[in-house]
Amino acid sequence: MNICLANGRVLPVEMHQVKIVQKKSLTPVDQRLTAMEEAGYNTFGLRTRDIFMDMLTDSGTNAMSDNQLAAMMVSDDAYAGSESFYKLKDSVQAVFGFAHVLPVHQGRAAEHLISKVFIKPTDVVPMNYHFTTTKAHFEMDGAKVLEICIDEAFNTQSTNPFKGNMDLEKFEETIRTYGPDRISFVRMEATTNLIGGQPFSLGNLKAIKEIASNHGILLVVDGSLISENAYLIKQREKAYHDVSIQDIISEICSLSDIFYLSGRKSCSVRGGFIATNDKNIHTRIMPLLPLFEGFLTYGGMSTKEIEAMAVGIREMTDVDVAGCSVELIRYFAERLIENGVPVVTPPGGLACHVDAMRFVPHIRQTSYPAGALAAAVYLCSGIRSMERGTVSMDRDEHGNDVPSDLELARLAVPRRIYSISHIEYAVDRLTWLFEHRDLIQGLEFIEEPSVLRFFLGKLQPLDNWGENLVRAFKETFGSEC
Ligand SMILES: Cc1ncc(COP(=O)(O)O)c(C=O)c1O
Repeated sequence: MNICLANGRVLPVEMHQVKIVQKKSLTPVDQRLTAMEEAGYNTFGLRTRDIFMDMLTDSGTNAMSDNQLAAMMVSDDAYAGSESFYKLKDSVQAVFGFAHVLPVHQGRAAEHLISKVFIKPTDVVPMNYHFTTTKAHFEMDGAKVLEICIDEAFNTQSTNPFKGNMDLEKFEETIRTYGPDRISFVRMEATTNLIGGQPFSLGNLKAIKEIASNHGILLVVDGSLISENAYLIKQREKAYHDVSIQDIISEICSLSDIFYLSGRKSCSVRGGFIATNDKNIHTRIMPLLPLFEGFLTYGGMSTKEIEAMAVGIREMTDVDVAGCSVELIRYFAERLIENGVPVVTPPGGLACHVDAMRFVPHIRQTSYPAGALAAAVYLCSGIRSMERGTVSMDRDEHGNDVPSDLELARLAVPRRIYSISHIEYAVDRLTWLFEHRDLIQGLEFIEEPSVLRFFLGKLQPLDNWGENLVRAFKETFGSEC
C-alpha cells in the first residue's frame, strides 16, 4: 500500500509480514567473478549459493502466503477425481468466470497444447508481443508470430500508460492481408514480459475482441500476470479507478475465448492451466492433457500445488497482493532515474528493466549489450538479473542473429521477497556500475543451442572486461563484498 511520508515521498509499505525466512549471503567479488566465468557469462548458469538477490525472474519465486502453505497440507493425491482439483475448478470459476479448466505443469505446457490444437502450418498469430516460449511453440508448429504492438512500445522513455496495447489498425491490416482463416487466433499477454512488463488497457482489449469477433477469430489471453495488469488498469485507466481488481479481472476474462496462464506468477505457485467457457474448445484440447501432461484432475501439477493455486487465485484479487510488486518496481525505477540510470518507463509489472542500449551504448547488438549488462550487474552486486535482448532471440534460418527490439537487463521483483533495503542496495550498485559503464564490453558465444539459446548458451567476455570491472570494484569497495 502506498503511504505518503512527511517528506512527500510515496513509500510502498508491505501489507504482509515475514514468517519464514531463507538465509542468504553475499559472496565476495572475486568469487563472483569465478562463478560468472563458470556460468559462461550467462546468469542462468549461476548456482544460487553464489547469488545474493535472485532477480532473474518472478516465475515460481514469489513468496507463498500462510494460507497457501496450509492448503498444501490437505491435498488429495488421488490419481483421478482428486478433491484438490475441484477446489481449483471452484476458484477458477469464482475469480475468472470459466467453467472448464485443464491444469498443466507450467505456462509453456499450456502454449504447447493450444498450439497443437489451433495452429496449422502457414498460419499467423498476431499478438501484442511474443514471449520466448510462446514464439518457440507456435513457430515449431509452423506459424509466423506477428508483433503488432503500438509503436510507442519500443520507446523506453515513454509516459504512455499502456505500452502493452495492440495497434488496432495493424490488427485490421493483418486480417486484410492474411484473411481470418490463416489467423489461428489473436493473443494478448498481460503484461508484456519482454518489453518491460507493460500492461494493456481494457479499452484496447474490448476493441480487439470486437474486431476479432467480427471476423470469427478467437481471442486468447495469456494471463500469467493478470492481477498486476488489472492493478495497472485500476491505476491508469480512468474508467476503472473505482473498480475492484476482481471486477477488472472478470471483465478481462469475459472477453477471452481461451485463457491460459503460468501459475508461477500472479498465482504464486508452480503450475498453470488453460480455461474456457466454450465446451467445444475444451473438448478439443482435453484429449491432449493425459497424453502430454497427466490425468484431467491433476494434469502436470502436484496436488499440493493445485491446492495452493486454488488459494493463490483468490488472493490475487486483493489490491495489496496485486499491487505489492508493482509498487516496489515503481519505487526501484524512480530511485534509479533519480541517479541517472536509464530504465524503461513507465515502470510496469514483473521487473525493473534497465535499458542496455542507453546504459552501454558503445556495445553493438551483435555483441549482446543486455547480456553483458546482466553479467556486469552480477559481478558488482551479487544480484542475478536476466538478459532480455538479442541473446533471447534465436538465430534466423540463415544463421544470423536477429536483433531484438529492445536490449534490457531485467531485474525481476518477485512478490513479497525483497524489502526497501534490498532495493536501495541494488540502486547503489547499479549507480556505481553506470558510473563505470565504459569498463563493460561485449560478449561472444562459445556454446550455442539452436532453440531458446538464452537458457543454456555459454558466452565469454571480449577482452576480459570482467576482470577489469572487478579490479575497479575492489578499488571502490574492497574485496569483502
Ligand atoms: C507471459 C508469459 N507467458 C508464458 C510464460 C511461460 O510460463 P512458464 O515459465 O511457467 O512455462 C511466461 C513465463 O515467464 C510468461 O511470462
